[in-house]
Amino acid sequence: MSAMQSEKQSEKKVFIKTYGCQMNVYDSVRMTDVLAPLGYSATESVDDADLVILNTCHIREKAAEKVYSELGRIRMQKEKRAKSGKPMMIGVAGCVAQAEGEEMIARAPYIDMVFGPQSYHLLPEMVTKSVRAQGGVVELDFPQEQKFDFLPEQTHAHGISAFISVQEGCDKFCTFCVVPYTRGAEYSRSVDAIVKEVKQQLAHGAVEVTLLGQNVNAYHGVGLDGKEWSLGRLIRHLAELDGLKRIRYTTSHPRDMDEELISAHGEVDILMPYLHLPIQAGSDKVLKAMNRKHTAAEYIRIIERLRTVRPDMAFSGDFIVGFPGESDQDFEATLRVVETVNYAQAYSFKYSPRPGTPASTSTHQVDEAVKSDRLAQLQALLNQQQLAFNRAKVGQVMPVLFERDGRYEGQLIGKSPYMQSVYINQSTHLMNQLVLVMITQAFDNSLQGELVDAMNAQTPQTIQPARSAHV
Ligand code: 5AD
Ligand code: SF4
Repeated sequence: MSAMQSEKQSEKKVFIKTYGCQMNVYDSVRMTDVLAPLGYSATESVDDADLVILNTCHIREKAAEKVYSELGRIRMQKEKRAKSGKPMMIGVAGCVAQAEGEEMIARAPYIDMVFGPQSYHLLPEMVTKSVRAQGGVVELDFPQEQKFDFLPEQTHAHGISAFISVQEGCDKFCTFCVVPYTRGAEYSRSVDAIVKEVKQQLAHGAVEVTLLGQNVNAYHGVGLDGKEWSLGRLIRHLAELDGLKRIRYTTSHPRDMDEELISAHGEVDILMPYLHLPIQAGSDKVLKAMNRKHTAAEYIRIIERLRTVRPDMAFSGDFIVGFPGESDQDFEATLRVVETVNYAQAYSFKYSPRPGTPASTSTHQVDEAVKSDRLAQLQALLNQQQLAFNRAKVGQVMPVLFERDGRYEGQLIGKSPYMQSVYINQSTHLMNQLVLVMITQAFDNSLQGELVDAMNAQTPQTIQPARSAHV
């Protein structure tokens, strides 16, 4: 689609009526800004408006009553437009909205959104959800940068290790992220369809599956009994399939780490003891501005619970430094979280404004040099933790799934349960097999090992992971 075409198709009008103080006038301008990427431009006429927002003020007497009578008039216009097939959304913002809250929708059910002065940056989320609820489509004109959307689009076989898409889209609306707009509403495939695909992959020689989704642990597909199943339940079911030796899943959101999924890590031995669980930042202030819907303490509690049910659990995370408004103290809080969790691996990024996301229009952008400095500090700590994690495995025996040739003749590379790359030098016939390896050396990004049986001067044997014990 050309830029011209998409611009035309996504053209929508927003009418904002502002009551009261200068602060409200400023907020109304910001609302127009954050809505622009969704295709909205301002109009002076309610009749033309696809979206009407009353940005209210509580100072005047009978402020709420005045808003209700204005809403009554707008409602008539909404009905008039509906007759000609054009929907109109109505939002109430500002201090009256804050004071009345949900009451407003109870009293005037034709209102689509009510939001207080602290949440206008969440307007794109609210509008998108509202449009989706009406069965509509939000059209966008984002540049399609693929940098962060690195999940494979389609399920594909990869020899012994298969990737299965179980969930798509995201309803979380982190204020830095384009996924909820570009990938759309969250959707889960049925258990039946997933099981069929996993069986197919097993028949083609897969022994490991990685369940994929932008927000995979929000999975809530239709189960075999017709009821919704969670990811934990799906994993427990898949674990019973003959021939499946390893299950992984990615990427998860802390808010969706429910008890069923956490306990699965303690009970399902083929569920690997490794979890990619992004936190993004350690300061609650920043987490709130990111709309992450969890605090740092809640995140750490999840990590602790997982370590209780599965003591050798390894964690990976995503971090953003220099999110708008992040102070030195906020950044320190990120370092504290990293110290507390002790990651096995991690990805870290400098905040980069993604067009169309609420945070991109913030006026509190952090200086590039500050971002670079923070990223360097964070990565130094994360790299140190990764090396320490790798070193702690030296001397341990663990099952490794060999999946590719190494750089040198006779070298094979595989994955440990904790997602580390492990290579051995003395084998030619263990490709695609799960083999016990003694770790002999650790590096920044890999481990070196020797076959346990070779060390005992016995014929190498492949293993079946014990179902009763953690491997
Ligand atoms: N700036 C920097 N990092 C981002 N990510 C997503 N959006 C942005 C952005 N605007 C990172 C997050 C996410 C990962 C896939 O990419 O850390 O978890
Ligand atoms: Fe983006 Fe992940 Fe947040 Fe969804 S949960 S909005 S995919 S960062």
